[in-house]
Amino acid sequence: GKPFNEAIKPLLWLLGKWESVEGKGTFPTIPPFSYGEQIEFTSFGQPMVNYSSFSWHPEKKTAMHLESGFLRIKPGTNQVAFLVAHNFGLTTVEEGEVVGNKVSMTSKDITRMSWAKDPAVTKIVRTFELLNDHTLEQVLHMETSSTPLCEHLKIVYKRKP
Ligand code: HEM
Repeated sequence: GKPFNEAIKPLLWLLGKWESVEGKGTFPTIPPFSYGEQIEFTSFGQPMVNYSSFSWHPEKKTAMHLESGFLRIKPGTNQVAFLVAHNFGLTTVEEGEVVGNKVSMTSKDITRMSWAKDPAVTKIVRTFELLNDHTLEQVLHMETSSTPLCEHLKIVYKRKP
């Protein structure tokens, strides 16, 4: 049989392990920062792609933001849904589409644990784009209960062998 499900064909370019070469964080309420991150997209032959990420402090190398989830594709379409649990107390359902070598998604639903830190995240907009065979870029904008939609993350990764 095939090593992957036909449904994920439009997402095959995303599969693999990616390690950041340059990660930049920004938001109007915080000082700009740098970070490192590794993300991984894998498949077990199901009509979805499994996702995990961990980020670290550039000098201390300590763990920071962690995510775990699934990038689903509606079979036979380019419509995607990204289900993500974030270690700081959120879950997000992001939806959008894959067009060529770019996935673009906007949050449809965000849930928070009752004691999550304020401000609340009210919207996420993100893209993953393959810049060339070995280079992936993620750009993430967010809106919070106190700040309108602004860029929070921009990061470039290289494919790990
Ligand atoms: C701050 C959300 C990913 C690092 C924040 C804040 C929010 C937030 C709501 C507080 C902003 C404010 O006080 O106005 C998110 C969401 C993410 C995400 C929803 C992913 C979808 C990341 C990643 C890193 C990161 C990958 C990388 C290390 C930081 C840092 C701050 C911050 C350093 C400032 C200090 C702090 O508040 O902890 N983020 N973040 N974030 N974020 Fe993110």
